[in-house]
Amino acid sequence: MARKKTKLRARGFALQALLEVLHQGHSLSRALAERSTALSDPREQGLAGELSHGVLRWLPQLEAIIGKCLHRPMKARDRDLRIVLMLGTYQLLHTRIPPHAVLAETVALAETLGKGWAKGFVNGTLRGLQRQQEQILTAIKADPVANLAHPAWLIDTIKEAWPEHWQAVLKANLARAPMTLRVNIQRQSRKHYLQRLAEAGHSGRAASHAKAAIHLDEPCSVQALPGFAEGDVSVQDAAAQLAAPLLDPQAGQRVLDACAAPGGKTAHLLEYAPAIKTLTTLEYDPERIPRLEENLQRLGLQADTLCADATKTADWWDGQPYERILVDAPCSGTGVIRRHPDIKVLRRAGDVPRLAHTQHLMLEALWPLLAQGGVLLYATCSTLPAENQQLARNFLQQHSDAKVQIIDASWGHARAPGRQILPSEDDMDGFFYARFQKH
Ligand SMILES: C[S@@+](CC[C@H](N)C(=O)[O-])C[C@H]1O[C@@H](n2cnc3c(N)ncnc32)[C@H](O)[C@@H]1O
Repeated sequence: MARKKTKLRARGFALQALLEVLHQGHSLSRALAERSTALSDPREQGLAGELSHGVLRWLPQLEAIIGKCLHRPMKARDRDLRIVLMLGTYQLLHTRIPPHAVLAETVALAETLGKGWAKGFVNGTLRGLQRQQEQILTAIKADPVANLAHPAWLIDTIKEAWPEHWQAVLKANLARAPMTLRVNIQRQSRKHYLQRLAEAGHSGRAASHAKAAIHLDEPCSVQALPGFAEGDVSVQDAAAQLAAPLLDPQAGQRVLDACAAPGGKTAHLLEYAPAIKTLTTLEYDPERIPRLEENLQRLGLQADTLCADATKTADWWDGQPYERILVDAPCSGTGVIRRHPDIKVLRRAGDVPRLAHTQHLMLEALWPLLAQGGVLLYATCSTLPAENQQLARNFLQQHSDAKVQIIDASWGHARAPGRQILPSEDDMDGFFYARFQKH
């Protein structure tokens, strides 16, 4: 009985988070984080996360399937019930939860909304889907949005950007991303930490390109990771772990991390190069600073954190040039859709030129702060050329004192003047890096 209640609570939690994303435009991470204290059991949290991510991952397809199952459109006031149906459909098609349990739990979920009248409707709709599943799935194949489970603008943009890889990119966006760790190799070797993991009952493997990265075979809660509270390890994708070695800060240097929260790369820079002189971290969103500070505190690291706008250098720059600058720019996030499927719902085609303009302003503002001979690393977790190679190329054309430092690597694709990783390649997120030196 208690177990049944737990599952129902997790489903209700997923439903509320989805309502917040789909109808208030909030990010899924925010919607889940805001409610996380309501679910104390890690299994409940796991189920709620899996269901809400799953529904958003397949949303355009679930919408099309439900459209085919209904005899008439649902009323606007029943948008919560529509999400209940999506949760049921997702579980029937994409999980190993036994269908009878899916039906019973989904009907019970409708009842928790105070819509007891809808129990028969939800039950009948999901039973109808079970009966006609094959015909419905065949019928929706003709519609690329439903079949590929991406909005039309994004399918078109990715097709144009990656004519040879677009199908792999869209497929990767629908996959579950691995949980990847970054070991603080100043404290212990990756090999040693793999042993600690094995002793704690977790299996994982060393990542191919990032020296401190481990991919776990199965995700787990961070509390279950040996030494997490003590700062021996952090959660960070392997592509994100390439930033610190690409920037390669040296002892005694002044380093700027211009877009820092939640501090994954900030922390890695400090672990990677503990002998740098100072690390200034900027973040303009005050709500994101506490998370950055908590991360640094857990890891026992220190940076000069400023809540400031990177493009308004007169407000915060002390006039001393930096030898290294990391610009991990705000972007469309199209390289991390597999981790944040809400991006497909929240982003619009018009966001891309707006973001590219901000990225351009950032590079323009920060370039004068770089010392002669210093290095600036531009990074995005985007797969779109407008935010990546096109932007970096324009920057180069406009700055005769900027010279490309070619990233010669065995990962990703050369996209002059930078390098692009596509999502899931070598188990990494989609990332773009370009490196410039000042002459
Ligand atoms: C891609 S995220 C950075 C991720 C971070 N480097 C990490 O590895 O954890 C970009 C960050 O830049 C911040 N940001 C956006 N515009 C900014 C600006 N004009 N000045 C400073 N920070 C900005 C965003 O709030 C966001 O936290």
